[in-house]
Amino acid sequence: MSQPQFTPRVFSGIQPSGGLTLGNYLGAIKRFVQMQDADFETIYCMVDLHAVTVWQDPTDLLRNTRELAAGFIASGISPDKSILINQSQVPEHAQLGWVFSCVARMGWMQRMTQFKDKAGKNAQNVSLGLFGYPALMAADILIYHATHVPVGEDQKQHLELTRDIAAKFNHDYGVDFFPLTEPVIEGAATRVMSLRDGSKKMSKSDPSDASRINMTDDADAIAKKIRKAKTDPDALPSEVAGLEGRPEARNLVNIYAGLNDQSVEQVLAEVGGLQFGAFKPMLADLAVAKLSPISAEMARLMNDPAEIDRILAKGAGQAREITAPILQKTYDIMGMVR
Ligand code: AMP
Ligand code: TRP
Repeated sequence: MSQPQFTPRVFSGIQPSGGLTLGNYLGAIKRFVQMQDADFETIYCMVDLHAVTVWQDPTDLLRNTRELAAGFIASGISPDKSILINQSQVPEHAQLGWVFSCVARMGWMQRMTQFKDKAGKNAQNVSLGLFGYPALMAADILIYHATHVPVGEDQKQHLELTRDIAAKFNHDYGVDFFPLTEPVIEGAATRVMSLRDGSKKMSKSDPSDASRINMTDDADAIAKKIRKAKTDPDALPSEVAGLEGRPEARNLVNIYAGLNDQSVEQVLAEVGGLQFGAFKPMLADLAVAKLSPISAEMARLMNDPAEIDRILAKGAGQAREITAPILQKTYDIMGMVR
């Protein structure tokens, strides 16, 4: 439970480091829209400062940031109901990020599995920012005193670290200033897997485009990728237990459930016994029906990038009304003259 003195406030972010995938949509954006419409105060962010922890071509970064904003709006995030920002236009994120770099411990960072995955054998050659990234992520959240953070399963460890940072700051300075944020990891598809390999996460950075469904894919591309998705030779089970040891089958069923707002049990009750040859076209039709209105709206919004920039500038102004006082209070607590 979050501490009682903090009013409910939702923050989440996505990196503009490539196109949006079905994983982002089902794992994150669908929840963003639900929380917005459930009357939470909501702030959603294109985390450009996170994206540059690995090299980003400037032209691509500009385009990807606007396209991500278009994806948010096309999916139902309303700039009138939510604050929509890109991180670098709200300087308090990076300022509090520095403070949290001084609160977090090396050992905490060294345990982060996402860093280990991304750095791999190359750990001496990746940027210092990639290593320190979770401190900035904690700042993204806590600069708003956010209480709830909707994310996919892969972000759970970073959110535990965010709580550790808040608790250590509060403890070190003898205050109860930062809330202990709750992760919101819900739905049938909190971890959408690659269509080519059921043991790997669907990711915008996978070199194989066939491994993912992009939010900008057209109906033909979606149908083709689903038709070619890796499966096993057995029919679909009628019970969840029958998905045991069948990661590819589980993934396609999870995607169906996520797209159709059903539980996995409900889906299996309907499709149990079908072969993939029959199930895949159903899934493709459903995916096209749900995603093509979004990609059409994204394309429309991308015709007017100046309007997107206006929305993000307005969002930054609204955001700073929240972040500037919280940063000032943080500096006061720490003994900074101002
Ligand atoms: P990223 O694209 O890494 O910035 O992720 C943005 C959000 O999408 C985070 O909340 C992730 O947890 C979520 N996400 C990314 N990929 C997936 C996936 N394959 N399945 C579920 N959620 C995902
Ligand atoms: N680390 C997240 C990811 O890679 C993106 C992110 C940055 C984020 N700051 C955040 C998510 C704050 C939620 C809250 O997906």
